[in-house]
Amino acid sequence: MTTKSVIVALDIGTTKVCTLIAHKTPKGLDILGVGSHPSNGLKKGSVVNIEKTVESIRNSIEEAKLMAGIDDLDSATIGIAGNHIFCFNSSGVVPVKNKEINQADVDRVIEAAKAVLIPSDREILHVIPQEFKVDNTAGIKNPVGMCGSRLEVNVHIVTGKTPLIHNLIKCVEQAGLAANSVILQPIASSRSVLTQEERELGVVLIDIGGGTTDIAVWKEGSLLHSQIIPLGGNHFTNDLAVALKIPHNEAERIKLAQGTVVKDGHNDSFITVQGLSGTKPREVPLSFVAEILGARAEELFQVIRDVVVEKNLQYEITGGFVLTGGGALIRNLSELAEYYLEKPVKIGYPMAFGGMTTAMQHPKFSTVLGLLQESRHESEAATREEKQNDEPDMFDKLGKTFKNVFKEIF
Ligand SMILES: Nc1ncnc2c1ncn2[C@@H]1O[C@H](COP(=O)(O)OP(=O)(O)OP(=O)(O)O)[C@@H](O)[C@H]1O
Ligand SMILES: [Mg+2]
Repeated sequence: MTTKSVIVALDIGTTKVCTLIAHKTPKGLDILGVGSHPSNGLKKGSVVNIEKTVESIRNSIEEAKLMAGIDDLDSATIGIAGNHIFCFNSSGVVPVKNKEINQADVDRVIEAAKAVLIPSDREILHVIPQEFKVDNTAGIKNPVGMCGSRLEVNVHIVTGKTPLIHNLIKCVEQAGLAANSVILQPIASSRSVLTQEERELGVVLIDIGGGTTDIAVWKEGSLLHSQIIPLGGNHFTNDLAVALKIPHNEAERIKLAQGTVVKDGHNDSFITVQGLSGTKPREVPLSFVAEILGARAEELFQVIRDVVVEKNLQYEITGGFVLTGGGALIRNLSELAEYYLEKPVKIGYPMAFGGMTTAMQHPKFSTVLGLLQESRHESEAATREEKQNDEPDMFDKLGKTFKNVFKEIF
């Protein structure tokens, strides 16, 4: 095993920092080390305390290194979310110079699509092509080699606030690793959870984390829309803590053990809750817990519904909704989502691959597992790029452009 064949993924979430170390094998990936540590320095997906974030990252990396028996790591692929993220669609058009479209034309049209005014405090994280059009023939994924006189592209652009992106990178660096790429979290989660068929058919991935809920809408294999909603599992817990006048830890315990979002015949029982310090435990009807959590879930689904309607996506998502992230596991959440969103809804578990334990097949690990797969994909593209210097081919050339100007997606 060489250092070159080892890759690292780092998911810096609002509730936990997770590190995965894996070995690239001819068949795919083999996970060697896992580290997961509570996260204390983030709010709604953004770093608010550098020191605490660095400490969480460091602990998570150390744990993964120990398990992998590897001491020497240099860089990681990291995920980003937070409500500073803003995504939009853009398009560009260029004349084709020599009738047959080549890589330079593709580069130029993507540059044209990128030429939009972005506030000075923002930077572009991804420019992801949705489709190319050659002389009005739409739906083309790779136009290189096609004949035509006019080349168009529709792209999805992901931007984030520069200081917040840099804070995240700084934390990773202070914890001892370089950030070799920064990937929008719902894109990573999509990679580990969604099938190619789902992305073709039209589907909305909803990653319900601790601080944010991240959305990625796919159709015909392309990313149509992405958005970060500043509302996550922690809000459910806080609501319980406030309504039941109990400590946050106790509210989290109840949510995980008995929480449900639907009032039904099963929850006319009572549960025992430990009140604030100095108070005696008391009995609370489970239906009250369901009412509190249900109200927050309704609010979340209303926001998601509004996004889908506002972006006119309701007719694109035949495959419905896939809920992932730790927050997706609140009991009856998918049933309630189906009722509100009026489409099929399922819980998305990360797909298994080498070295993955059953404990890792949990929705809270969707992002980090997706980041790992993205990382492998990128390093494969880089290897192709190296080979390309000897013997370039069209596929590699397209991959090179994608790597230079935007993330290569799926
Ligand atoms: N079994 C469960 N039932 C209900 N909620 C759960 C369960 N397991 C985890 N959660 C909730 O999931 C949330 C954490 O999810 P996750 O680990 O995906 O978030 P994160 O990645 O740390 O945060 P973010 O992505 O928002 O920055 C917490 O609010 C936690 O209470
Ligand atoms: Mg997360």
